[in-house]
Amino acid sequence: MTTTAPTVPLSHGAQMPLLGLGTAPMDDAEAAECVRTAIESGYRLVDTAENYGNERGVGQGVLDSGVPRAEVFVTTKFNKRWHSVDGARQACENSLERLGLEYVDLLLIHWPNPDQDRYVDAWQGLVRLHEDGLVRAIGTSNFKPHHLDRIIEATGVAPDVNQINLNPYATRTSTHAYDDEHGIVTEAWSPIKPAAMLRDPVITQIAEQHGASPAQVVLRWITQRGIVTVPKSASPERQRENLASLELRLSQDELDAISALDRGEDHITDSDRFGH
Ligand SMILES: NC(=O)c1ccc[n+]([C@@H]2O[C@H](COP(=O)([O-])OP(=O)(O)OC[C@H]3O[C@@H](n4cnc5c(N)ncnc54)[C@H](OP(=O)(O)O)[C@@H]3O)[C@@H](O)[C@H]2O)c1
Repeated sequence: MTTTAPTVPLSHGAQMPLLGLGTAPMDDAEAAECVRTAIESGYRLVDTAENYGNERGVGQGVLDSGVPRAEVFVTTKFNKRWHSVDGARQACENSLERLGLEYVDLLLIHWPNPDQDRYVDAWQGLVRLHEDGLVRAIGTSNFKPHHLDRIIEATGVAPDVNQINLNPYATRTSTHAYDDEHGIVTEAWSPIKPAAMLRDPVITQIAEQHGASPAQVVLRWITQRGIVTVPKSASPERQRENLASLELRLSQDELDAISALDRGEDHITDSDRFGH
C-alpha cells in the first residue's frame, strides 16, 4: 500500500504535505536517485537548499519520478549573501534554474544571520516574490520569536512556515507556540537525530507497544501535533518506514511522555550566533 501524507493549509493558500524527504547531505547523483524512489513510494514533499549543492539532483529526481510537477511540493532555501530585496529575487531565479522548475512551492531564508542584520530586507524580497507568483509560499528557517517579530512588524506579513531544529530532545516549545499564535506552520529539521535519541527507553517502549520503530514514533510525535517534518533517508526501505509513521496513533499520555524528554535549547545550534 502506498501512503501519501495528508496536507496542512498554509497562510498564503498552499497545501503542504505533513511529511517529506530531507536531502542534506546528498550530492546531485544521490539526491536524484533518492528523490525519485521517495516520490515513487508516495512522498510529495522534498526539502533542499542552495547550501546543500544538490538542487539539480533534486529537480532531476522530481522529473524522473514521472509524477506531475504540480503534485510535488518543493522547498528550497537561500544563504546570507542574498539578504536583500534584489538578492532574494536573484537567489530564487538561481534556484529555479538549478532545479529546472518554473516556481518553487516554498522558499525559505535559511538562517537569520543577525550579525549582518539584513534578514528583514530578505523577507521584504520574499513578500515581493510571492506577489509576483515565483513562489507559492514563503518562510523562514531557524528564526526565533524575536526575529519573527521584526519581519512581521516591518511587512505585516507572517511566514507560511518556520523550519527549525525540533525533536524530543529539543521540543522548542516557545518558538512552536509563537508560530501557532501567528498562523505559521512549524516544520522540524533533524527530527530523528541524534541517533542515541532513538535508543531512549521512553521511545523504545512506546515503539514496542505499537509494533513500530523508534524513528516512526518520533516522527508521529511530530506530525500528530500538526508539525511538518522532513526526515532524510538514502534507503528506500527507511523512506517507506518513515512515511508509514503517519499510520500510527499515539495517545495523549504517550505524546506527553515524549515531550517530557526535552533537554532545552543549550545543546542545539544557536541561530543568533551561527548561520550561512
Ligand atoms: N533548515 C536547516 O537549517 C536544516 C538543517 C539541517 C537539516 N535540514 C533539513 O532537514 C532534513 C533532515 O534533517 P537531518 O538530515 O539532519 O536529520 P534526520 O532526518 O533527523 O536524520 C537523518 C539520519 O537518520 C537516518 N535515518 C533515516 N531514517 C531512519 C530510520 N527510520 N531509522 C533509523 N535511522 C534513520 C539517516 O540514515 P540513512 O540515510 O542511511 O537512512 C540519517 O543518518 C535534512 O536532510 C535537510 O533537508 C535543515
